[in-house]
Amino acid sequence: MQTTTSSLMKMKQEGRKITALTAYDYAFACMLDQEGIEIILVGDSLGMVVQGKKNTLAVTMDEILYHTSMVARACQSAMVVGDMPFMSYQGSLDRAVENAGRFLKEAGASAVKLEGGADVCPAINAMARAGIPVQAHIGLTPQSVHQMGGFKVQRDEERLLKDAKDVENAGAFSVVLEGIPSPIAEKITKTLKIPTIGIGAGPACDGQILVLHDMLGINDRFLPKFVKKYADLAGEARKGLASYIEEVKQGKFPSDEYEYK
Ligand code: KIV
Repeated sequence: MQTTTSSLMKMKQEGRKITALTAYDYAFACMLDQEGIEIILVGDSLGMVVQGKKNTLAVTMDEILYHTSMVARACQSAMVVGDMPFMSYQGSLDRAVENAGRFLKEAGASAVKLEGGADVCPAINAMARAGIPVQAHIGLTPQSVHQMGGFKVQRDEERLLKDAKDVENAGAFSVVLEGIPSPIAEKITKTLKIPTIGIGAGPACDGQILVLHDMLGINDRFLPKFVKKYADLAGEARKGLASYIEEVKQGKFPSDEYEYK
């Protein structure tokens, strides 16, 4: 069944947990979609886990649209959400709506995500009025890493609750809660009508999201406390690579079965 904004709302109302992960290419997106994930976010974490940069700030519209189109091509049922890059929505509202629209028109996404609370509500509202479903993202917002002084857990309960209510009132269909103490995330989840998707925000959120490369152990990068590693793909890949190199060096590969006679 195709995930839609209303099916997500229904899941919250019925107390069924929502699953979400990031993906950046066709091969992984196929696996996620076939396993039944509800939301695939083409996150600007792309900059860190795919492009090898130290934060997400340099990701461009063209880069993320390219990756979003690969993911969208793979999906039959998952909702594909394109992450709006830094400075693609913070300027004029016209430009923000135009950039958001490109995710749906050019890349085949069904929604966009953007970071921020009260400050980005005019943009959320303008996009929603243009018929573009918007997922908000509050708490630890990586695009503000320099303003926050690092990737830090956010603990200002009053501000977080206000941001959450503001983005809901502005027309967001869902909100990502990142790097927030569990009791605050629980309070926000109980207060809002729209579903909350947590990352480092405890178990009470309506759904959970992780960065695919972190949870599958694809990169050997530092993992924050909230990441559970469900597989060690880097370890498996290294074993395969080492065997290939050794067999080629020793003349064992290709053996008979891999030859044309
Ligand atoms: O860019 C990203 O992957 C994200 C998620 C971690 C929520 O914003």
